[in-house]
Amino acid sequence: MAIRKITEYPEKVLAEMGKPVTEFGEELEALCADMYETMYDAEGVGLAAPQIGLNLRLFVMDCEGIKLIAANPEIVGTEGEQSSPEGCLSVGKFPAVVVRPNKVRLKAQNEKGEWFEREAEGYAARCFLHETDHCDGKLFIDHLPKMRRDMLVKKFQKEKRLR
Ligand code: NI
Repeated sequence: MAIRKITEYPEKVLAEMGKPVTEFGEELEALCADMYETMYDAEGVGLAAPQIGLNLRLFVMDCEGIKLIAANPEIVGTEGEQSSPEGCLSVGKFPAVVVRPNKVRLKAQNEKGEWFEREAEGYAARCFLHETDHCDGKLFIDHLPKMRRDMLVKKFQKEKRLR
């Protein structure tokens, strides 16, 4: 296992549509083990493959008791609405309130290639949506009104310069 370098906004891979995962088994399991290690090290609750520089539709998460690997994730159902702060390891963890559905149904394949569906509410549902967005080349800041997005990006760029 190894901790990988986390890609940061505005790296190109974060804005690209991920390629479908087609190979399952040992190699994918090893990659997911690295992703988990990287995520825990950064104290995140989810991490998608583009965040370690791979243009792949894949994420891992461990959020409010839901720990899973999702390859080729799709959101197949949503219900209600929630409005809470959200952050991203690729944007310096600066939080911003994003309006999202409150209840979400995720369909994905596990590391063996088996399809499953899982439902979540609240924070874990937000995580399903946030990580699936990453697989589609979308960041949470893309959901913000332009002014709030620009402000957050400015804060992040300033923090990056001071590192
Ligand atoms: Ni993120």
